Amino acid sequence: MIPAAAAHAALRVPDLMCAPDAILDGMRSYRIACIPGDGIGPEVVAEGVKVLGALAAREGFGLEFADFDWNSARYLRTGRYIPEGGLDELKRFDAILFGAVGAPEVPDHISLWGLRLAICQGFDQYANVRPARLLPGVASPLARGAAIDWVIVRENTEGEYSGAGGRVHAGHADEVAVEVATFTRRGIERIHRFAFALARSRPRRRLTLVTKSNAQRHGMVLWDEVFAEVAREFPDVATDRVLVDAATARMVLKPETLDTIVASNLHADILSDLAAALAGSLGVAPTANVDPERRFPSMFEPIHGSAWDIAGRGIANPIATFWAAAMMLEHLGEAGAAARLMRAIEAATAARVLTPDLGGEARTADVTAAVLARL
Ligand code: IPM
Ligand code: MG
Repeated sequence: MIPAAAAHAALRVPDLMCAPDAILDGMRSYRIACIPGDGIGPEVVAEGVKVLGALAAREGFGLEFADFDWNSARYLRTGRYIPEGGLDELKRFDAILFGAVGAPEVPDHISLWGLRLAICQGFDQYANVRPARLLPGVASPLARGAAIDWVIVRENTEGEYSGAGGRVHAGHADEVAVEVATFTRRGIERIHRFAFALARSRPRRRLTLVTKSNAQRHGMVLWDEVFAEVAREFPDVATDRVLVDAATARMVLKPETLDTIVASNLHADILSDLAAALAGSLGVAPTANVDPERRFPSMFEPIHGSAWDIAGRGIANPIATFWAAAMMLEHLGEAGAAARLMRAIEAATAARVLTPDLGGEARTADVTAAVLARL
């Protein structure tokens, strides 16, 4: 049985501040920056725009899309992913719909830091939210896959991916590279508070802290201590704590014991791929890079990446992008539209209109058509 919480459509991201937004001529309207990027990114973002456009027309709000060609081709041509002043331009939008970045000709750390992380850190999108649940009609490798209804909250600006570090004595036998995991009290406190608020908004009111404070005795110990402090503000949320290695086993063996999970940048990166695979495919997994204080636009994207092996073949799964679009609508305050989109996605998967990553034979366009028909 699918737990009641699964019926609950898109994910509710807790608002720590005010709601937006532009109300023009009596009609609510939002400006969306699209950054399709590389590989299958442009294919899935194009489908997302079609579905969002149809939905907005039905729900009676306006969506204005602007396309940004910030991708690896541009980097190879100009030496930059984001042109001079690009972030200032992006700042004027209500939200960002992102495809993927990464290309065979560009080292991955250049493309990632040149675009996606430059936006996440530049816009202080410190909360990365990753729901995972088994959609109807989708098979899980777990016998008890239906019990999966999780939201992983990933710290998104510091930790192991802070970017702090360096390399010296290049090419010499005594070359040194240092990658510094950076944990600040402020950074930890805000992500835990966000995770608690999110856990509180879900029916089970349960938050699991993922840690590795037995081995990482500085940053992760602070991570645990601040969690305990923030927990006092949320006496109605049940908590527990699990080491990251044990968390992998628990996700496989006791999926029903987890609900909302908070983890560091690296740990949640790894756990979220596991979560996506257990929920059927990376092709359905969405994510939101949120600035909960709404100082900057938040960014919504599929987790799957550029997937060059299937690019241009018309078989990319657009569901992760649709689900990300639903999260975007929820964030913009269009909860009704978000719920309608999630119902259409679930009706399409239930009818087994599935791309090859889910064991089906549908093409990208078939999935879009199935979702559009069910809006
Ligand atoms: C993800 C991705 C990225 C990340 C990659 C592309 C580095 O794996 O969204 O999980 O780890 O942030
Ligand atoms: Mg990842």
